[in-house]
Amino acid sequence: MPVPHPSPISGASFSAAELSEDGDAAILLDQRRLPEEEPYVRLLDARAVAVAITDMVVRGAPAIGVAAAYGMAVEAHVHRNDDEGAFLAAMREAGAIMAAARPTAVNLAWAVGEMLADLGAISARPKAERAATLAERARAIHRADVAACRAMGARGAAHIPDGATVLTHCNAGALATGGYGTALGVIRAAKEAGKRIRVLADETRPYLQGARLTCWELSRDGIDVELITDGMPGHFFARGAIDVVVVGADRIAKNGDVANKIGTYGVACLARLHDRPFLVAAPSSTLDPACPNGAAIHIEERASDEVVRIFGRSIAPANVRARHPGFDVTPARLVTRLVTERGDVPGERASELMA
Ligand code: MRU
Repeated sequence: MPVPHPSPISGASFSAAELSEDGDAAILLDQRRLPEEEPYVRLLDARAVAVAITDMVVRGAPAIGVAAAYGMAVEAHVHRNDDEGAFLAAMREAGAIMAAARPTAVNLAWAVGEMLADLGAISARPKAERAATLAERARAIHRADVAACRAMGARGAAHIPDGATVLTHCNAGALATGGYGTALGVIRAAKEAGKRIRVLADETRPYLQGARLTCWELSRDGIDVELITDGMPGHFFARGAIDVVVVGADRIAKNGDVANKIGTYGVACLARLHDRPFLVAAPSSTLDPACPNGAAIHIEERASDEVVRIFGRSIAPANVRARHPGFDVTPARLVTRLVTERGDVPGERASELMA
């Protein structure tokens, strides 16, 4: 098993994405096989990493960004002996393929942009330096993401009362980031501050990120977690059994509208109806000041098969097709607090974090 333990960047005992020591491979935890297995795959060029992102080997907006950065670093390693023009062209082409791997998580395009910044100058450097420079840049993106998660965790924990039952949707944890997590980072930080916390995790159809991933990583950390199906939050809100909601985000528009895993909007509506805080935790790499509002966010449409089949078995008549938007948009007015490493504000004041 090739991943270094603990992760050299996050210090955790597992990691969504790492770069091999000599920069020749992106090492990804194949999250599709959790919780039964914990297999790592070694990918040797940017195209392989892009396919892994599309196929959900690695998922979660910040983790996709880190994986993309490592994919670009590995591509630089592949082309380490190319002359300047060929290196530049190969990296540009790889960047375009990588950025198109999934459309909604802005962290992907952001990370590719960071890796390609000053590419002309990097290409002109001695061959021996180019790949090392990009490997270090990718590791810096990873380190910054972990630091952002820890900072937003500390901020967000202040909004979680002692003794709270917290509802979360999808997986916005260590598996979805460079480490520690956004929404689950808030929960971890509250626990580390000595608060007694119980978590309800929505299972999150169709990929079951809540059941397979959130329950896996929280129970591994000794955090009290129970699984509920996506149809159950209304029942638990009505019984007064949920005190606060915390979720992650894939893209936050300038006006504070939040794209996150399909089902998030319904949870936000329930939280408002039942007068409970709805917190969104995300690093500033998820803020998209160029996107004016939620209507302008490209919502990924995934295959019908991912809904009508579970673990290889059909659950609907053969002639029925399913709808499968991967994300929905929660309007800013439903976001009680948007928590980033830079600060936290009500959703409608998101632009203050984008200055
Ligand atoms: O389709 P996924 O699993 O990539 O969707 C993940 C989510 O929607 C997460 O909530 C979001 O990316 C935030 S992860 C810190």
